[in-house]
Amino acid sequence: MPSYKEFHARSISDPDGFWREQAQRIHWQRPFERVLDYSRPPFARWFVGGTTNLAYNAVDRHQATRGEQAALVYISTETPSGEPAEKSYTYAQLYREVNRFAGILKGLGVGRGDRVLIYMPMVPEAVFAMLACARIGALHSVVFGGFASVSLATRIDDAKPKVIVSADAGSRAGKAVPYKGLLDEAIRLAQFPPAKVVLVNRGLAELPLVAGRDLDYGRLRAEHMNDEVACEWMESSEPSYILYTSGTTGKPKGVQRDTGGYAVALAASMEQIFCCAPGETYFCTSDIGWVVGHSYIVYGPLLNGCTTILYEGTPLRPDAGIWWRIVEQHRPTSMFSSPTAIRVLKKHDPAFLTRYDLSSLRLLFLAGEPLDEPTAQWIAQGIGKPVIDNYWQTETGWPILAIPRGVQALPSKFGSPGVPSAGYNVKIFSEHDGSEIGADQKGVVGIEGPLPPGCMSTVWGDDERFVRTYWTAIPGRMAYSTFDWGIRDADGYYFILGRTDDVINVAGHRLGTREIEESISSHPNIAEVAVVGVADSLKGQVAVAFAVVKDAGRIATPELKLAHEGDVMKTVDSQLGAVARPARVHFVTTLPKTRSGKLLRRSIQALCEGRDPGDLTTIEDPTALEQIRAAVAR
Ligand code: PRX
Repeated sequence: MPSYKEFHARSISDPDGFWREQAQRIHWQRPFERVLDYSRPPFARWFVGGTTNLAYNAVDRHQATRGEQAALVYISTETPSGEPAEKSYTYAQLYREVNRFAGILKGLGVGRGDRVLIYMPMVPEAVFAMLACARIGALHSVVFGGFASVSLATRIDDAKPKVIVSADAGSRAGKAVPYKGLLDEAIRLAQFPPAKVVLVNRGLAELPLVAGRDLDYGRLRAEHMNDEVACEWMESSEPSYILYTSGTTGKPKGVQRDTGGYAVALAASMEQIFCCAPGETYFCTSDIGWVVGHSYIVYGPLLNGCTTILYEGTPLRPDAGIWWRIVEQHRPTSMFSSPTAIRVLKKHDPAFLTRYDLSSLRLLFLAGEPLDEPTAQWIAQGIGKPVIDNYWQTETGWPILAIPRGVQALPSKFGSPGVPSAGYNVKIFSEHDGSEIGADQKGVVGIEGPLPPGCMSTVWGDDERFVRTYWTAIPGRMAYSTFDWGIRDADGYYFILGRTDDVINVAGHRLGTREIEESISSHPNIAEVAVVGVADSLKGQVAVAFAVVKDAGRIATPELKLAHEGDVMKTVDSQLGAVARPARVHFVTTLPKTRSGKLLRRSIQALCEGRDPGDLTTIEDPTALEQIRAAVAR
């Protein structure tokens, strides 16, 4: 076993040899001719000429050896009492369900390269749908169930799905959250509506069907009960899915993933980083609507022959011990969650951490947002297991930085997610001239091209945007910008210091402030608005809005102000979803801008966090900042 240093150095100096070996982890229907084609940077093509299929590798390949092993264990505490209800699918049963769903989609005319949008709660049918798409070579685009009609419509219009898969409702803390109204509204708003909508009826909410368009999944499933659908053999670089994520503009980017590179990278990460062996159980508490759910609820564990737990519910119902009770019962060896979830648990009795038998668990992984030391220590001591911070992005699909304990159990350093994973040539760059920055100095975290297998291959339908957004931010280099500030210490550990752009991170959910601003601006009474991310002890950050109303006289009294604040929040709820709702909306008569009209977001944010607003020499109207200061102080 090489040391981490040798392992990582080889992945950079000999990518051909390194990834050729890693590629043996998956089944290739036709062997690849070349490991990497980087003749057209920054577009990297991994395992050129090889054909494979994600669903084959995740499901079919395990039939002979693990047919009777549980593949997917669905646990829902979204029951009337909060007591968990469970349903388990063996690899053999998963195979059947995926074939049925693939038969349904084929029957609706979905084929290779077509898109299917999945707008679903955390139910097994969502996973069947994803794998069914992969099986027939269609691209899934899963949209987080917490998003509302405008977010959904934007994604429909960009992906132009032939079919949407959805359900009557999700559920939150035992209360149904109906989906159908939002979905119908989104389809009404969309310019490119889908031909068909497949609806899973959970019996939670009204489910009126639109004639000629909406179809009941239960009925279709019965018709396709015995379908066997052949896997579509995809060239390694062919896209497997699109997942939208926020950036600086109001328009979310469709992160496009390949097929072969993703399969290889995830399979490798399961051993090298997540230390979960085939046959073991993996428990990831994320949502399939986010990248963590794609990679480590669905594909990573299944590609690796693990049992994956799909959990629907909050960490607190029926009580704050539910996740540990699940660990006792299902005996996962690795668990993956977010710092916010742990901070939520931290508000409850620590006795929950010791009430259950956690002996199966070896490691707890946390990602998605900065992990603060008190939270890390509280949980590490409480459950008596090492906590592994890991840093990555929707774009990369798997960790950029972690402690790769499957390679070498390097010591952790608090505040640092660790060291670069295989194939990531991570550097700290100057944002001014693109030069490399030495140890212990702050710069932009970048990755020298090519990105390793598994990372995004382009922006869906917009190669130019891929290049412009990610590859020109670091001047003079063919380097990918993460848009995070960071530092590397003398031992080669990295520390992440927050975003360089206007992306905010609320409870581990990535949101664009521009999207929230656009939503608020659509309110008929709002003239102008600025949204910033403000530090929050529970959620990491929350969105705070400063709005200028059209008719200032109307909100003179505090009561009216409150009503208006609620009104603005409702607008965001109904358009983007409660996940994007600002924690506060302050009303001001003018916003701080430069003389050229650029919003001084950093200064607003600094004032909200009680920091110095910085260089104000370019400000147009200094009283604007005073208003912000006064609003925050109230
Ligand atoms: O700012 C970084 C932060 O989350 C961003 C990526 O979010 P998303 O695309 O939703 O992907 C999450 C995948 C885990 C990053 O640009 N971030 C993510 N993990 C960490 C982090 N910040 C600090 N520490 C982390 N471990």
